[in-house]
Amino acid sequence: MSRVVVIDDYEPTLRMYAAAIEKMLGGEVVPFSDPREALHYLNGMEPTLCVVDYSMPDMDGVEFVLELRGVPGRERTPIIMLTGKDDKELKNRALGAGVNVFLNKPVTADEFASHVRRLATQQTVQNDREGELRELKDRAEGAGRRLHARDREAVDAIARAYAARDAEGAAKMKLAGEIAVMLAIEIRCSVADVQLLREAAHVYDVGKLCVAEKTLGTTALLSPASRAAIEKHAEAGAEILSIADSRLFNAAATMARSHHERWDGMGYPRKLKGDAIPLSGRIIAVADALVAMMNARPDRPAMTFGHALDQVKRESGTHFDPAIVEALDRIKDKIGQLRS
Ligand SMILES: [Fe+2]
Repeated sequence: MSRVVVIDDYEPTLRMYAAAIEKMLGGEVVPFSDPREALHYLNGMEPTLCVVDYSMPDMDGVEFVLELRGVPGRERTPIIMLTGKDDKELKNRALGAGVNVFLNKPVTADEFASHVRRLATQQTVQNDREGELRELKDRAEGAGRRLHARDREAVDAIARAYAARDAEGAAKMKLAGEIAVMLAIEIRCSVADVQLLREAAHVYDVGKLCVAEKTLGTTALLSPASRAAIEKHAEAGAEILSIADSRLFNAAATMARSHHERWDGMGYPRKLKGDAIPLSGRIIAVADALVAMMNARPDRPAMTFGHALDQVKRESGTHFDPAIVEALDRIKDKIGQLRS
């Protein structure tokens, strides 16, 4: 249904235009003799069309249009201005302020009706189109959110499956993931990227499911063959996490594949170097190494947090991205609290 706002300080003219428009369009016509009252009304109500007189005592038609165009959402409201003045300069000012149709009185009923009908129809079509687009966008966003929630549940299920076999490894992944999130925040990753990293980080080492338990649990120094078997876990993890082609699974697969790459290109599986390593991989590499150092291995005892931090700093620029190591040093106190 159309809603036309008519503004004229002269009541008889106001009533006349209101009646004519009501007859033409059949919708609602809202008359105002005070343009300021009309502005308040239009601040909360979207009209199909505005018809405004120019000559009004407190606020003329051009001033009214300039104010209306400043109201959010009223930038494109169709406006017809009527005036008894045959003034070219005024017409230019009115059109410049945003008037769509400028009519000099007297106006024939047919001419007035054709402009009213044309603008009202255009606006109705425009409003319908915008409404449909809004609805489609809302629907798409809702569907996207539901799919993402399903992905999160699937990633959590993979994390639980991993924890069932290796609870200690799952706890290390969780801690490294939390450190990675703090590092991502510290280096000013976007809120969306931090959230994605948070959701993906607790499965980055899941490829270890593909390594024989006796190899993972060996207490002896690793043979070259065992080392090669363990190194396959990065690519294996990426394969597990490639079961779905979605933002979350892609992010998780990227982290799994790249968490053992080294800044100097001597890592695995792809020997990527420097910025060629995805940022999430460079972040989780630092967090993963820090957590690993604080846990005992067959070839060395567990390090304290301070010693592990020093070791990571020594390997800045060789093993690790220097910018991430600097970020780690800046937030070392916060990470200390995370562990306690
Ligand atoms: Fe790993």
